[in-house]
Amino acid sequence: MLSDQVGEDRLSPEAEASFARPMLPKFLATVSSEGTPNIVPIISIEAADPKTIIFAELMIWKTRKNLEENPKVAAAVMTRDLKAWVVKGDFEGFQKKGKYYDKLSCNELLRYNAYTGIRSAAVIRIKEVLPAVPLPKLKLLGDLIKTRILSPRAGSQLQGKREMPVPVSEKFRRLMGVKFLAYIDTDGYPGIIPLLSLFPADGRKLIFGTSISSEAIGRLKFSEKVAASVITSDPVAYQVKGSFQGIKRYWGIKVGVIDIDELYSASPPLPGERII
Ligand SMILES: Cc1cc2nc3c(=O)[nH]c(=O)nc-3n(C[C@H](O)[C@H](O)[C@H](O)COP(=O)(O)O)c2cc1C
Repeated sequence: MLSDQVGEDRLSPEAEASFARPMLPKFLATVSSEGTPNIVPIISIEAADPKTIIFAELMIWKTRKNLEENPKVAAAVMTRDLKAWVVKGDFEGFQKKGKYYDKLSCNELLRYNAYTGIRSAAVIRIKEVLPAVPLPKLKLLGDLIKTRILSPRAGSQLQGKREMPVPVSEKFRRLMGVKFLAYIDTDGYPGIIPLLSLFPADGRKLIFGTSISSEAIGRLKFSEKVAASVITSDPVAYQVKGSFQGIKRYWGIKVGVIDIDELYSASPPLPGERII
């Protein structure tokens, strides 16, 4: 996850198999030309070979614009045994035909999709495969409990700001919601941190436990731009963009704090649309 943790430049058979599993939650992080990270679910991400990942372009907007402006990306998958794989890579282009397009068009999930079929195949050359991030269940449980207990304490007066609507905060509150954070790593590529404990403290603030991925979390800089995405089993997804407000202590317990500036839907019927 950290840029000084030198990873492999190709997927191991285990990582390749994880990216090959069709129903696992997968996310793609990109960065705009202004330096704002974006992270959304892209379930069609798969490994074409150990050095290449591809995905089907169906409903991406900010992601597409970012890819056109800045080829640096990161992709992540979470396995059922709670292990997250993160890769960094360079976007090489959209292909409207060819072997990658044909491979994605044959994908069981996409073949029958109600929309227009796939627009194109996006191709990413892998630069670095980060060591797998295990999410130990006990630590995770601790972080989930902490955020739930501390959320009333960490919330504040919103002073007229528009709040995250209840259906959105309800998704962030779900125990089974899969959540990932994106930020800009020191190498200029997006970094991705699995953050299952992310939880609303109020309508404009999220908090998270710091026991897992603590090194990566410890390197986030105060007020740096971050984006976070949640996907539920429905599946329904949202993305928030905001800034990291540091690690704070409530009742002596540490949690990370994110102030929300923008909120987007990331699933039909309004995929990519801004809510706040
Ligand atoms: C479960 C799930 C899987 C998705 N998979 C894909 C995908 O494979 N390809 C795609 O183009 N969009 C996919 N999307 C839709 C995008 O994530 C969604 O439209 C998002 O809002 C795009 O945001 P953007 O404007 O930041 O690019 C998926 C959405 C969900 C909820």
